[in-house]
Amino acid sequence: MHTRFSRPHMNSLLLASCGMLLLSNSHTKATTTQEEVNRFPIVKCSMTPSAYERILMTTLRDIHSTREQFRNAANKLIELLVPKVVECLATTTINIQTPVAPCLGEILSDTLQLVSVMRSGDVPLKVFSEHFTNAPINKILIQRNEETAEPIFKYMKLSPTLAQATKVIIVEPMIATGGTLALLINLLKKLGVAEENIIIASICAAPEGLEVLSREFPKISVVVTVIDVCLNEKKYISPGIGDFGDRYFGT
Ligand code: URA
Repeated sequence: MHTRFSRPHMNSLLLASCGMLLLSNSHTKATTTQEEVNRFPIVKCSMTPSAYERILMTTLRDIHSTREQFRNAANKLIELLVPKVVECLATTTINIQTPVAPCLGEILSDTLQLVSVMRSGDVPLKVFSEHFTNAPINKILIQRNEETAEPIFKYMKLSPTLAQATKVIIVEPMIATGGTLALLINLLKKLGVAEENIIIASICAAPEGLEVLSREFPKISVVVTVIDVCLNEKKYISPGIGDFGDRYFGT
């Protein structure tokens, strides 16, 4: 898969990219292959994006996409993340009756809670809460120090039954350094959430962030649409999509 950028932007992208990308001739390869991804056992989904996901990712990445196009592509990609997360959940067989005949059906048997890392997490939160309509919504605000990229805890409002959930789904569109998520997971664990019950749902991840999460929390699950090449020196995912929140919210 290739990213599509105008030449002036492409030059700055290459300059801002990781060392290995400077060697590439014109356009950078956007994502890693399934074999490269196999080194992260916490990633619990196939890393072969569908044609539709590749098309939507192109809109999300393209600097020329309008806000409307960006939002539309982001919302659709998040819709496509939901079934990948459902694959990580427990289901149970039930007997039902159709208007015509009795038959076997299937329902979710996990007790779910959603955790949104504000503000970007509020975008997938909306979609996920429409699918998991009963799941309590937990909110946490962790901001990055602009200079050091260190995460700083600011605010949280959590459900009193969080620790009883059999699956806690953290929605976070971008996994960059993994620092914010590491802080959040440590906090959830202190509150009694079992590491193996945590699922992170994300659109785009950097290998560096997955490395940190794999090392510190080997029992979590990560469901992600694409894994990009690397972080640049400003800790942005490269080639990435830029700042998700800024592009989605326009603020
Ligand atoms: N957050 C974003 O929105 N984009 C990045 O590239 C990294 C973190």
